[in-house]
Amino acid sequence: MPKNPHLPKNGAKPDQAQSRDLNSNLGPEPDLSVKLGPLKLKNPVLAASGTFGYGLELAAFCPPQDLGAVITKGLSLKPWSGNPSPRIVEAGFGLINAIGLENVGLEAFLEKYLGPLKKTGAVVGANVLGQSQSDYVALTERLSQSQVDFIELNVSCPNLQHPGGLSFGSDALSLAQITKNSVKAANDKPIVVKLPPLVTDIVSLAKIAQDNGASAVSLINSLPALSINLESRQANLANGPGGLSGPPIKPLALRQVALCAQALAIPVIGLGGIMDHLDALEFIVAGAEAVQIGTGLLVDPTLPVQMVSDLAKYLAQNNLKNLGEIRGTLKF
Ligand SMILES: Cc1cc2nc3c(=O)[nH]c(=O)nc-3n(C[C@H](O)[C@H](O)[C@H](O)COP(=O)(O)O)c2cc1C
Repeated sequence: MPKNPHLPKNGAKPDQAQSRDLNSNLGPEPDLSVKLGPLKLKNPVLAASGTFGYGLELAAFCPPQDLGAVITKGLSLKPWSGNPSPRIVEAGFGLINAIGLENVGLEAFLEKYLGPLKKTGAVVGANVLGQSQSDYVALTERLSQSQVDFIELNVSCPNLQHPGGLSFGSDALSLAQITKNSVKAANDKPIVVKLPPLVTDIVSLAKIAQDNGASAVSLINSLPALSINLESRQANLANGPGGLSGPPIKPLALRQVALCAQALAIPVIGLGGIMDHLDALEFIVAGAEAVQIGTGLLVDPTLPVQMVSDLAKYLAQNNLKNLGEIRGTLKF
């Protein structure tokens, strides 16, 4: 990926250099904790699905237990091989991926990965994806008997050739049914619905998730995109189209998060192009309860832990006791 001016070595954005003097005059440790339905997380920084593996691969750089939660790679009932390579390409200051939701499948996750991850003390969200409504229910039912702390329904993947994916999340009736039936199957485990980014009315969809029992919504997923090799006149990804992520999608993500946060009673988790704690604070001012880091983890796997510490310092330096003092303060 070309070097992102958003992520300079010392972390300073040109116009916000003063707020980067993070090490002076710190007061008592501020409270970074957030609530996701019944869950209390120690901080608002979550690893996004698809960029943190099954939670332990990057542990040497980013201990999963130091984050608010980790969300594991999207799981299907059976293992999926995903799309052929190349599956990731740089695109301006972002990237386009068409991994195609390659994953080990539900049972391998439960047998091999979940136990060691939970042993670290991490809060774990399992991201799931199905080809039919009944897949979501079966996945949720099985996960409800496991040690996962919550389940995130991915109804919004832009690079999937399988039926479902994007269409479930954009279709009001399907979204209502998937949410309702998954909430029922999950017993008491909280359900987070990951909404599609590009729809005419994001607030209506978010309300459907809320009205059907979701504990929170997360947004946004990557955006439908295409990268072309002019010489060969072929797409740069074997799949053709893919999903755009990283800094270019942040303005859209902020807009969708702000609209949903104003309209919903349940928490909104914001993501899309968050590359440092100031980006995260913009989402919180827009009303997000918590944030997820995706592409940022691929650029620098230590980023989320750095962000936790930078957020604490920001609050202390600005005499803020907790994030609630700035959450949703956007004048809009
Ligand atoms: C390589 C890669 C794999 C991803 N896999 C998943 C996935 O399995 N499930 C899912 O819900 N989102 C997946 N996503 C989307 C991210 O979780 C996130 O919604 C999106 O990238 C926007 O956030 P970002 O700009 O911080 O990356 C993936 C993204 C990338 C870059």
